[in-house]
Amino acid sequence: MINNIIYTSNISEGVEKILSQKEFDLLFILTDENTHRYAMPLLSKSEICQKAKEIVILADDSNKNIENLTTIWKALGEGGATRKSLLINLGGGMVTDMGGFAAATFKRGIEHINIPTTLLGAVDAAVGGKTGINFGGLKNEIGAFKQPSAVLINTEFFKTLASEHLLSGFAEMLKHGLISNIESYNRLLQFDICNPDYATLLALVEESVAVKERIVEEDPLEKGIRKYLNLGHTSGHAIESLAIKRGTPVQHGYAVAWGLVCEAILSHLKLGFPQKEIYRIAEYIKNNYGTFNISCNDYPYLYEKITHDKKNESGRINYTLLKDVGIVEINVAVTKEEIETSFDLYRDLFGL
Ligand code: GLY
Repeated sequence: MINNIIYTSNISEGVEKILSQKEFDLLFILTDENTHRYAMPLLSKSEICQKAKEIVILADDSNKNIENLTTIWKALGEGGATRKSLLINLGGGMVTDMGGFAAATFKRGIEHINIPTTLLGAVDAAVGGKTGINFGGLKNEIGAFKQPSAVLINTEFFKTLASEHLLSGFAEMLKHGLISNIESYNRLLQFDICNPDYATLLALVEESVAVKERIVEEDPLEKGIRKYLNLGHTSGHAIESLAIKRGTPVQHGYAVAWGLVCEAILSHLKLGFPQKEIYRIAEYIKNNYGTFNISCNDYPYLYEKITHDKKNESGRINYTLLKDVGIVEINVAVTKEEIETSFDLYRDLFGL
């Protein structure tokens, strides 16, 4: 396996175990203002981590930029980091993405370990080696593939997450269910994420991470089947950008959830994805995530964002779509009219 994923209910014990197997000269821990306050005290129970140098950056995806990346590079340099130093990224996707990219580029690459503090991070961002920053108004525009040496998933964190953070991560789990098989997908749709049973959630998380691991193992650089993981994200990223433009940003997973509905519709139009499955996903998303209001005046903006998607090639708009649950097709060329129809039908389904 590319990723060495360890589940623990005791973060300091878990990290001691990983660090005892590693050789490094200096240890750095990257946190943001929130994880510095809430997660770092738990990690500091480990003796090795007490000796580490902490780098604290501003929280929020809007700070996943070149200025903050420079802050990390500077702190590593001023702290005496060498190629043998180790960086722990303690935080959500913003910290693991940007810390991973700092680790990929500092002195041409140092080892890093991810400790996700959100469900979204645990099931997606911290696993698989995509790192990067936002640039020029585009998300993750600059980055590198760099696998973490280990990912430590502290199951206790999930119990303290606000429901919107749980829902955000759960959308990526729904995506993993949709691209794997009907049994896994049904288990997710039967799960009450707004009132979670944590033991069941943990089992679902492990199953979900395993889906991603299998795919990344086979295609770490996204030449082929890793594109399965983009389901829901082409329309979803456009919705996320629209929400930011309106001044009312939404959690990434919420945008993915609405993107999954739009792309289930496109899957039906292009590949005959069963209609009953569109209704099932739309109902789950509507009941748990609510609706995101789109009018036809938004179509030009959404389309413009979709045309900038990294998955497009030679002027073609490429989507990852489904023939059925567990049957995925990548690089499906979709036209402007089909995209607009998917938004029309999304609005019909959600009564907008
Ligand atoms: N978030 C999708 C991937 O890691 O490929």
